[in-house]
Amino acid sequence: MFDDYLSWKPFFEVVPMEISDCVEVSELHGARFPRGWNDGEFQNLLLQKGVFGFVARQTNAFFSKPFGGFVLVREAAGEAEILTIAVPEKFGRLGLGWRLMQAGLREATSRGAETMFLEVEAENKAAVTLYGRLGFKKVGERPAYYTGADGRRSSALVMSRVLR
Ligand SMILES: CC(C)(COP(=O)(O)OP(=O)(O)OC[C@H]1O[C@@H](n2cnc3c(N)ncnc32)[C@H](O)[C@@H]1OP(=O)(O)O)[C@@H](O)C(=O)NCCC(=O)NCCS
Repeated sequence: MFDDYLSWKPFFEVVPMEISDCVEVSELHGARFPRGWNDGEFQNLLLQKGVFGFVARQTNAFFSKPFGGFVLVREAAGEAEILTIAVPEKFGRLGLGWRLMQAGLREATSRGAETMFLEVEAENKAAVTLYGRLGFKKVGERPAYYTGADGRRSSALVMSRVLR
């Protein structure tokens, strides 16, 4: 809170995700998705072959390094997949989702991936717009795939992008 007050314009670094980040990653995931994944689940994923991630941390706060979001990616046999991505609501629309995705795309390319896939709720306007601006195109749709807290069903879009 005090940090927010003192640093009127936050600056962030985007760095590789480490096991020690998993508690904050899980807390943010729980805040931004209806079904959260616990820190053990994130640790297990991050330890799997081909899985990597990036986190954003504020660099100009006075007393801590506030968490600015994460992306988790899996790369295998030339294909990469966004497993999950989230940015805290209070840091939304500062370009962090874009920067995290760029870091994931670059790393996946350098590991040899030729295509990246992701799945997104069709009504998630922020995410669908972000992915569209990054060059992802819809390649499939799973009707009534998600069930919201109110029981309402919504479709999942499968999107992909060529990396090279
Ligand atoms: C999707 C999410 C990661 C975007 O992160 P963000 O840091 O706010 O996004 P950015 O600031 O990098 O936005 C980049 C571009 O994406 C688009 N965008 C982002 N949020 C948007 C919104 N709420 N409405 C419309 N377009 C949006 C815009 O084109 C934006 O560029 P602009 O700000 O210059 O117009 C974030 O909203 C989030 O964490 N949502 C909850 C979790 C989630 O839905 N994850 C994706 C699951 S598949």
